[in-house]
Amino acid sequence: MNDELMIDVRGLHHDYTHGTVVEPVLHGLNLRVRRGEFVVIMGPSGCGKTTLLNILGLMMAPSRAESVGIAGCETLGLSEAARTRLRRNELGFVFQRFNLLPTISVRRNIALPLRIRKAEADGQVGELIAQVGLAGCADKKPGQLSVGQQQRVAIARAVVGRPALLLADEPTGNLDSGNSTAILELLTGLHRQHGQTIVMITHNEQLTVTADRILHMRDGCFVD
Ligand SMILES: Nc1ncnc2c1ncn2[C@@H]1O[C@H](COP(=O)(O)OP(=O)(O)O)[C@@H](O)[C@H]1O
Ligand SMILES: [Mg+2]
Repeated sequence: MNDELMIDVRGLHHDYTHGTVVEPVLHGLNLRVRRGEFVVIMGPSGCGKTTLLNILGLMMAPSRAESVGIAGCETLGLSEAARTRLRRNELGFVFQRFNLLPTISVRRNIALPLRIRKAEADGQVGELIAQVGLAGCADKKPGQLSVGQQQRVAIARAVVGRPALLLADEPTGNLDSGNSTAILELLTGLHRQHGQTIVMITHNEQLTVTADRILHMRDGCFVD
């Protein structure tokens, strides 16, 4: 795999099976993303965006593909343990639903990926809490925060381990326009400051302004 590429996917197919009915969702899709690129994927509901992101995030295996290269590694044929290692060490995720743990503090939610990796936490977490504008909220529980603040926690958690690749699936889908703008600025800042590679799915036209590249998806393929 070319070293400059963070994602090198070729001939990607995915089908879902409902009983005896097979629903083809991705039809031989190709995607190359350079290291440091900020790519936005847009497309109508049901066209396969989340399916693609889940495959890129190694959360599920495709039905078939020629190549699924992620962070310099060909992932086809890897063991489940190797996929998990790659996912923990190289990938960060932000979802439309923030998926925070409700019973632990903001600080502990953010530090979670580091604890899973058994990495040191404290300094880094404090710095990040300030960077995402949550100084003063570190010891609160997610339920005590606004939805916009909860998504900032989720973003901090996604990037705390400095993942090579950040994958975001409609991160502003549950937010009003003010909070959406704040989240966009946060992601753009991470991209600028750290050269963070980002692949983001969105319906929000406003979010596409700062992207390096916008891809449009229709019925399981990219279109011009
Ligand atoms: N886990 C699943 N099991 C079966 N069908 C699914 C599953 N996830 C998605 N689908 C179907 O695959 C198609 C694409 O879904 P999805 O990837 O979620 O699209 P998008 O994110 O673009 O809205 C839809 O028709 C959806 O119903
Ligand atoms: Mg989706």
